[in-house]
Amino acid sequence: MQIKPKLNNIIQEAFKAINITPKTTQVSDATKPEFGDYQYNGAMALAKELKTNPREIASKLAEQLQKNSIFQKVEVAGPGFINLTLSNEFLAKNLPNTLNERAGVQEKENPIRVVVDYSSPNMAKQMHVGHLRSTIIGDTLANLFEFLGDEVIRQNHIGDWGTQFGMLIAYFEENQKDIDAKLSDLEEFYKAAKKRFDESEEFADKSREYVVKLQSGDEGCLKLWSAFIEKSLEHCQEVYDKLGVKLDNSCVKSESSYNDDLANIIADFEAKGIAKESQGAKCIFFENSKNPLIIQKADGGFLYATTDLAAIKYRVKELGAKRVCYVVDARQSEHFRQVFEAARKAGYADESILLEHIAFGMMLDISGRPFKTRDGGTVKLIDLIDEAVKRAKEVISRANDYSGEELEKIAKAVGIGSLKYADLSINRTSDYIFDWNKMLSLEGNTALYMQYAYARINSILKKAGGFEESEPILSDELEHRLALKILSLDDTLQKASKEAMPHYITSYLYELATLFMRFYENNPILKEGVPKNIKTSRLNLAKATANAIKTGLGILGIEVLDRI
Ligand code: ARG
Repeated sequence: MQIKPKLNNIIQEAFKAINITPKTTQVSDATKPEFGDYQYNGAMALAKELKTNPREIASKLAEQLQKNSIFQKVEVAGPGFINLTLSNEFLAKNLPNTLNERAGVQEKENPIRVVVDYSSPNMAKQMHVGHLRSTIIGDTLANLFEFLGDEVIRQNHIGDWGTQFGMLIAYFEENQKDIDAKLSDLEEFYKAAKKRFDESEEFADKSREYVVKLQSGDEGCLKLWSAFIEKSLEHCQEVYDKLGVKLDNSCVKSESSYNDDLANIIADFEAKGIAKESQGAKCIFFENSKNPLIIQKADGGFLYATTDLAAIKYRVKELGAKRVCYVVDARQSEHFRQVFEAARKAGYADESILLEHIAFGMMLDISGRPFKTRDGGTVKLIDLIDEAVKRAKEVISRANDYSGEELEKIAKAVGIGSLKYADLSINRTSDYIFDWNKMLSLEGNTALYMQYAYARINSILKKAGGFEESEPILSDELEHRLALKILSLDDTLQKASKEAMPHYITSYLYELATLFMRFYENNPILKEGVPKNIKTSRLNLAKATANAIKTGLGILGIEVLDRI
């Protein structure tokens, strides 16, 4: 259930009753628990406009709001804030709905089709940590949109075209026998091919020949090239499978798949007068950018931007997307700003279509430098993922005596969960400091803390045996706040989806788990002497909390464990 839109409506009605047209009816969360649950701060700006006293408007409005039984308390504070506290009856009545498999979250009435472009590595090179961030953030957003009811199309826009492929194919051909070993490290493969290219005139000629042949559609060359891509994709798939992200071959829509449309795109942009020739190249100029967007080089070659324009056209016209999210490194923001503007000019996406660059910052090591191996190379994602699981195993083994299969299972859920959670729990637009110790800590806003909280509640519920699902009796401040938090999952997910901000979900989960722990310390559940109705009520709160945690973590692609 969404609470905020409901409050907006109530405020709207209250304004009607006092014959005032508000500028906004949006409420925000109370900044401190003493102020209640929500705040309405619109009276100040309104008073300024109407040239009256804000407290007067606030008081009149509060008088109306008081009549609604959804509120326990409506209070005017300071210069004209309205503090709103929801009634325990309202919270209690709605709480049983949160026990269903959607944790009480509504599905959209008007779903839209959303394309999420994420991961999108380049085939010639090792997948790097930037792709890890894209993969984790993108998969979470896709899960989130899907959960809320949108129709999501996951697109892995892999980079599989360009002149470097001539060299790679030549090298691939030379080494076909032991290709598996060679390809296990794409970075090395690329380096080795480059070395060969620099050393052997013959090899270099062959490479150049292959570029030309490949681009003109030579069958033999295409065959080698696709074998190379297939092999490289297998490596990516290994990463996706280990991470448990929902990308597979059906999501791959490669750069090269747009090749046939690129000449049309240029012609179209020229015909519409959007692209101009400059020093032999075809460019699009923008009022507010220094650099033009080049869509065709002087030698006739197409570029990254040309493919992206074709991809927008495809996503909007063929796939019917109403929202397209590009989960890509912040350093590409100018590229996307220009590509989006160009696509709008050409009519590939009208204003009703949302085109969003979901930018994220760099991954840094604990000393704040770009994340690299000790000798300055690219960290292999597979190694990083395996290390996360290994470290999780150490942490778990230190605290418990699990072994064998059970330990493996827990370590995997905790290790992968931690890797994802650490990335998702900071504002994606910031650079992200990768710190094993912090990531695998039991304290603080971590996957492990959440997984422990879930396992703990689970063990309480198990110990309690069966109990009746019913409206809880909210008897104190902590129970009030816990119930409100549980019921705010829907609002939180809506906001996270609208702004494409996964860290709203992790913050919510952390606050929820922390509130639960405080509630549980003060309000015993299984202790002897707790009256049956109180016990049942608290068990209901516990179960609803666990359900919200499981749902939230599920969207983040993190497994819960019945026990740790
Ligand atoms: N392959 C690109 C890179 O590694 C990312 C592609 C992102 N998606 C896009 N439609 N441009 O930088």
